[in-house]
Amino acid sequence: MATSSHCLLWFFFSLFFGHGFVPLEASHQVYTHLQNGSPSALTSDQPYRTGYHFQPPSHWMNGICYPNAPMIYKGIYHFFYQYNPLGAVWGNIVWAHSTSTDLVNWTPHKYAISPSQPADINGCWSGSATILPNGKPVILYTGIDPENNQVQNMAVPKDLSDPFLEEWTKLPQNPLMESTSYNCIDASSFRDPTTAWQGTDGRWRVIIGSKVNRNGIAILYRSKDFVHWTKAEQPLHSGKKTGMWECPDFFPVSTTSATGVDTSSIGKNLKYVLKVSLDETKHDYYTIGSYNYEKDTYVPDKGSVDSDSGLRYDYGKFYASKTFFDSAKNRRILWGWINESSSVEHDIEKGWSGVQAIPRNVWLDKSRKQLVQWPVAEIEKLRSNPGHLSSRGLKEGSKVEVGGLTASQADVEISFKISDFEEAEVFEESWRDPQLLCSEKDASVKGGLGPFGLMVLASEGLEEYTAVFFRIFKRRTKYVVLMCSDQSRSSLDEDNDKTTYGAFLNVDPVDEELSLRTLIDHSIVESFGGGGKACITARVYPTLATEDEARLFVFNKGTGSVGVTTVSAWSMKSAKIN
Ligand SMILES: *[C@@H]1O[C@H](CO)[C@@H](O)[C@H](O)[C@H]1NC(C)=O
Repeated sequence: MATSSHCLLWFFFSLFFGHGFVPLEASHQVYTHLQNGSPSALTSDQPYRTGYHFQPPSHWMNGICYPNAPMIYKGIYHFFYQYNPLGAVWGNIVWAHSTSTDLVNWTPHKYAISPSQPADINGCWSGSATILPNGKPVILYTGIDPENNQVQNMAVPKDLSDPFLEEWTKLPQNPLMESTSYNCIDASSFRDPTTAWQGTDGRWRVIIGSKVNRNGIAILYRSKDFVHWTKAEQPLHSGKKTGMWECPDFFPVSTTSATGVDTSSIGKNLKYVLKVSLDETKHDYYTIGSYNYEKDTYVPDKGSVDSDSGLRYDYGKFYASKTFFDSAKNRRILWGWINESSSVEHDIEKGWSGVQAIPRNVWLDKSRKQLVQWPVAEIEKLRSNPGHLSSRGLKEGSKVEVGGLTASQADVEISFKISDFEEAEVFEESWRDPQLLCSEKDASVKGGLGPFGLMVLASEGLEEYTAVFFRIFKRRTKYVVLMCSDQSRSSLDEDNDKTTYGAFLNVDPVDEELSLRTLIDHSIVESFGGGGKACITARVYPTLATEDEARLFVFNKGTGSVGVTTVSAWSMKSAKIN
């Protein structure tokens, strides 16, 4: 009975949102011909490996490296990721596992989950951890079954007294959730269970990413015992014409403080965040809204746009991210995967692919309209050997070096103060797409107020540099701040994706200084504008500006002068990244 009404609802749902069913396919391309079948050592010339951004061990090649099931257990941080032990391209996916006490230095462990049951014999894909009220962690993950269907499975620690949780046991009941003809879910678009949360009725909820035609949906399941799951008649939420929703993440944020809250928290001073990873564009976007505990539905706030043109965690390379609640420090931490911008052939040549962004603390901005992100404080213990630049005015054409540090592995914080807005150009209302605007007005294009900012991983003669900068435009009585990361001159090697990225930054430059923090790590340029209101991460592969040859400059190419109030820059010590 219940099943046929499910199907009817789903049928209406798909009628409402789409036109007829199209066969769906999994999104991952398999490069079987490019896998050499055995792990091999990396070549010694590795200018692009990171010093403090998490990477798999150097003697192994990795494939796409989504963060999985981050959590804290008995004071130890656990991190799992999708790993290909056999090649630098996607395939043969297992769950690799590392632990840390500080989110900076990591120790690898044996693979936590790899194909063994019929329910995951063709792959162990992404999933999430939930800490049950008795403190016991459980993992829900997507398995690929013998028919190549995506199903949801569960694994539990074998020995809870082991803080490293080395051994995981799969439930004999797996799969716990599967697509069947009567529940109208397409078996090739049914993946990535979230951390589960408990509703007011004590039952558990979890969402699974999916799509109906081209509409993304967050399918909701409920359970009393975490083992038997029933699909709800309505999804938690859906989005029109977004394509598949991968790696959904759903969590509460406090409206009164930057403190993180547990996923199962219920209360007054909370807003909710739904993040989805868009398979079609490889971007993570999110909305902020309300969660109706009775109806089990999520509704984004007015103005919180449900599409790729809405809010993004990061306006550069950052995908398949996931948060967890750190109960030891009462904060919510975001992990995201940073893809390469080089060709698959290059990845195979260098023997690895994919790194993780620095874990970010995430909280609700005072405006309640967006999130704010900031690298976890622990990373600051790697700072050493500070570089120096005194506060000064930057006239048109200024370019000043920040010396005395290792500019290929650094952390830079800079603030700009604008006192004269006379030179600001008028903002044109047709400029809707910040990325497009940044590529039309890249760092070489002179402006009024801006471009001003940093040139990182720059070669001595500026044959190569990556520019992270601002432009300020006048719009009626207010100002618009554009933040850009321009990779167009990042490398003399033409074989890389050098897309320029951009974001509008919600800061009023009349009232506030414009701050920029950039984490530089050989092939990563991870930038936080306005104290973390807009983040842009880029991958670059300089040929000249590597290791000790890399330089760091502050520049202004606009006709209007800007003041630099503070510059703090440090070399970053290498972390034990695995
Ligand atoms: C990774 O980056 C490459 C190069 O820019 C791009 O072609 C590819 O689509 C990206 N893949 C994912 C999964 O983001």
